[in-house]
Amino acid sequence: MKNILIAYYSHSGNTEELAELIRTETGGTLFEIRPKVPYPAAYQAVVSQAKEEIHAGFRPEIGEPVDTGAYDVVLVGSPNWWSTIAPPVASFLEGCDLAGKTVVPFCTHGGGGMAGLARAMEELCPDSEMAEGFAAYGNSGPRARDEVDAWLRAIGLKG
Ligand SMILES: Cc1cc2nc3c(=O)[nH]c(=O)nc-3n(C[C@H](O)[C@H](O)[C@H](O)COP(=O)(O)O)c2cc1C
Repeated sequence: MKNILIAYYSHSGNTEELAELIRTETGGTLFEIRPKVPYPAAYQAVVSQAKEEIHAGFRPEIGEPVDTGAYDVVLVGSPNWWSTIAPPVASFLEGCDLAGKTVVPFCTHGGGGMAGLARAMEELCPDSEMAEGFAAYGNSGPRARDEVDAWLRAIGLKG
């Protein structure tokens, strides 16, 4: 049995719901990536802040690190922000050593799908093996239970 960690950042709850479904389906451990300074709730404010941060390669401070040592597989979830991962997820990946582990991207999005998220993750953990990811539109993740199930079976995380 593989030891599975599900690390995610979610601003408005969609990625969190998908992460929780993945936890239910795999029996993995959930870890929420929390920026020390939360992003504004207002959509336009977070959209422009995120644009600037991504452009600048800014890495926000995130709270308590998680000890990834015991895990073989780390699923990493992010909302699609400007076609890439949200900055707190970049901070997480830069701050932990996932060498030799399998990294599995998942995301929720507003129509753009996985876009550049998997590649952005791959660049931040070059010594990990990347497995095929999963993208869900908005809050459709939990309704796509069968699809999530098929994906997890295909990548060997569900028997
Ligand atoms: C700052 C910001 C940038 C976004 N950029 C994109 C984008 O480039 N493409 C896309 O499909 N959706 C984009 N979205 C929509 C989110 O990916 C979508 O609403 C997602 O489900 C939010 O996940 P969350 O509820 O876990 O935060 C953006 C949302 C925000 C707040």
